[in-house]
Amino acid sequence: MSLFDTLGRNLLFTFDPETAHGLSIRALRCGVPLPGRAVSSPRLRVSLCGLDFPNPLGMAAGYDKNGEVPDALLRLGFGFAEIGTVTPLAQSGNPKPRIFRLTEDEAVINRLGFNNEGHERCEQRLAARAGRPGIVGVNIGANKDSADRIGDYELGVKRFARHASYLTVNISSPNTPGLRNMQARESLAELLSRVMAARDAEAARLGRKTPIFLKIAPDLHEADLEDIAAEVVEKGVEGIIVSNTTISRPHLASSQRNETGGLSGKPLFARSTIVLAKMRRLLGPDVAIIGVGGVNSSDTALEKIRAGADLVQLYTGMIYAGPTMPARIVEGMARFAEAEGISSLSEIRGARLAHWADRTLD
Ligand code: FNR
Repeated sequence: MSLFDTLGRNLLFTFDPETAHGLSIRALRCGVPLPGRAVSSPRLRVSLCGLDFPNPLGMAAGYDKNGEVPDALLRLGFGFAEIGTVTPLAQSGNPKPRIFRLTEDEAVINRLGFNNEGHERCEQRLAARAGRPGIVGVNIGANKDSADRIGDYELGVKRFARHASYLTVNISSPNTPGLRNMQARESLAELLSRVMAARDAEAARLGRKTPIFLKIAPDLHEADLEDIAAEVVEKGVEGIIVSNTTISRPHLASSQRNETGGLSGKPLFARSTIVLAKMRRLLGPDVAIIGVGGVNSSDTALEKIRAGADLVQLYTGMIYAGPTMPARIVEGMARFAEAEGISSLSEIRGARLAHWADRTLD
């Protein structure tokens, strides 16, 4: 870690996690200058779903829930930024405290419950940055009290298809009761039919098909994964994001380990990578996969690609390693590609698929 990151982290860790998060967003909004510069290398470029990613590392959803700082995130070195989850109506989420640092485990438990300012506010911000370069995805969800949750996703597609580089259908947050049930085959079939129809209707108006990615939980059994893969292929969904946070509790040392919510960070790496590899095996080579969960270095980012990912995202790693982390990971990946004489990281995609996909999920 750089001195800058260590000092920044020590300062932010004197605040409770949610206050620290708010301060970091404010610092990015104000354009706090950062040491160093993000590298760019043609070896890291990824062409996927009609989008040209300058590098395969993205900011995962949940950090910039309201679309306040996507351009600042791109300046940190990320090849793309995913904002949201955003729901049609603003909602305040669960009572505080609702984010917990598990410092000894380099992990976080959150039970935020989709706190966000709603579609309208987020759309205004995206409209204000229209025409700027950079890949910005929008992660859409349903309001907790919605009478028609699938309808909320359709509204998200209608609202954001024009502004988003891609849309993520998030049905895997553990903090909205019942949301994860939408991953079950029948509900998923209806959800995806309606989402894809809404996307196609927007595509006809816009003259551009906004790719749809489905974000899944890591707490699924083999049979669930088979159902999801079958529906994704049948409905022509462009990609899948593996994974959201886990409700499982692998061996954890921190006293906060029994807090309710979704666990992210280092202890999620193995589980989310196993699910990712199993998904790649089920989907074959043509559906895009974004690997997320426990990435905290260029080695862990590259391992997601070896397990079958096209792109990688992170969130919790940056809480522990600071804002220069994305640039360092990208630089590490570029050094690796150069040392190995690799002209594109797709050359190592799936190189360790069997190693991960053959492992069992407990
Ligand atoms: C998240 N995550 C998340 N995901 C999502 O799709 N919508 C969201 O609103 C949020 N919110 C959120 C808040 C907080 C505080 C955390 C830590 C995480 C999940 C996130 O995008 C990612 O899938 C997991 O955190 C796993 O990646 P990391 O954190 O281990 O790199």
